[in-house]
Amino acid sequence: MKILVTGGAGFIGSHVVKKLIGLGHKVVVVDNFNNYYEPRLKRDRVKIFLRGLKFKVYEIDIADYKKLERIFKKEKFDKIIHLAAQAGVRYSLENPFVYAETNIVGTLNLLELARHYKVKDFIYASSSSVYGNNKNLPFKESDRVDEPISLYAATKKSTELLAYTYHHLFGINTVGLRFFTVYGPWGRPDMALFKFTKNIIEGKEIEVYGQGAMDRDFTYIDDIVAGIIGTLKVKSGYEIFNLGNSRPEKLMKMIGLIEKNVGKKAKIKMLPMQAGDVRKTYADIKKAKKQLGYQPRINLEEGIRRFVEWYREYYEQKTRSN
Ligand SMILES: NC(=O)c1ccc[n+]([C@@H]2O[C@H](COP(=O)([O-])OP(=O)(O)OC[C@H]3O[C@@H](n4cnc5c(N)ncnc54)[C@H](O)[C@@H]3O)[C@@H](O)[C@H]2O)c1
Repeated sequence: MKILVTGGAGFIGSHVVKKLIGLGHKVVVVDNFNNYYEPRLKRDRVKIFLRGLKFKVYEIDIADYKKLERIFKKEKFDKIIHLAAQAGVRYSLENPFVYAETNIVGTLNLLELARHYKVKDFIYASSSSVYGNNKNLPFKESDRVDEPISLYAATKKSTELLAYTYHHLFGINTVGLRFFTVYGPWGRPDMALFKFTKNIIEGKEIEVYGQGAMDRDFTYIDDIVAGIIGTLKVKSGYEIFNLGNSRPEKLMKMIGLIEKNVGKKAKIKMLPMQAGDVRKTYADIKKAKKQLGYQPRINLEEGIRRFVEWYREYYEQKTRSN
C-alpha cells in the first residue's frame, strides 16, 4: 500500500515509518520540521534512525491546503496515518493558536483531501488527555469525554468530532487512537522522561510537578507502533481505541529508574500541579486487545533502560561531533 504519514519526522511518526517500510509498504512523509523542540532531532530521525530506507519527504505545513493538495494530486494514497500535531499540554496555555491551526485546521484539510481524492481509510492520533479528570478508572473509550481541561485536549477531542462527521457524510473509515504517555528512543525533548534524564546526567535540578504525586500509564513506543499497525486491517466505519500500557506507574518510580540507569541521584525541586495537568491516567485496553490484537510487552524498567541507553549514545556522539 502507499501510505501518507503526517508527522513522519516526529517521535511516533518516525518509528511508524520504519515499521511500515519494513512491512513492504510505500511511505510518503509530510512534516514541517517546526522548532517547537530542536529541529535537529527531527532531521536526525530521518537521517540517522531511518538511514538507508526509501521514502519521500515533503516539508510542508498541513495547515496549507493548497500545498497539501498538490501532494494528493501527485501521489495516490491508499491510507492516511495522521500523526502531525502540535503536542504538549503546557505549551497550549501559552500559544493556543498554533493548536487550532495544526490540530483543527490541519486535520480538517486532510479529511477534505481524503474525501476529494478518495482515500477511504484515515487513522489519526488522539490523546489520553481527552479524558481530563475522568473519575472512572481505568479510562474506557465509552466514557464521556466532554470536559477537556487543556486547550490541547480540546483540539484532540475536536479531531475525533471532525472524523465522525467525515465518516458520517462521506463514508471515510476513521480510526482514532488515544495514546497514553508514549516514551522510548528518539523521544520528545519536551516530555518529563527526556527532561529528567538530561538534567540528571548534567547534574541539574529537575522540576517535579504535583509534588510528585502523579501516575502515568507509560507506554513503550514499540507497543504503540504495533497497535497502529494493527489498525491497518480494521474495517472500521468510525472507531476509537485506547493505546496504553494499562499499568499506571508513580512518577517517583520513573525518576528512581532514571537514577538507577544513569547512576546518579536526582536533585528534585517539588512544585504544585500545573494548570491543565491530570493526576492519573490509566487505559482500559480490552477493546484494542480484542479488535487490534494489541498487547503491550515492554515494562517501565526495560523501557527506561532502553531510553537512557539511546539518550547517552545519541547525545554523547553529538557532543563528539560538535
Ligand atoms: N508522545 C505522546 O505521549 C503522545 C500522547 C498522546 C498523543 N500523542 C499524539 O501523537 C502524535 C505524534 O506525537 P509525537 O509524540 O510523535 O510528537 P512529535 O512532536 O514528535 O511529532 C509530531 C510531528 O508533527 C510535525 N508537525 C507539527 N505541526 C505540523 C504542521 N502544522 N504541519 C506539518 N507537520 C507538523 C512536527 O514537526 C513533528 O515532527 C501527535 O498527534 C500527538 O498529539 C502523542
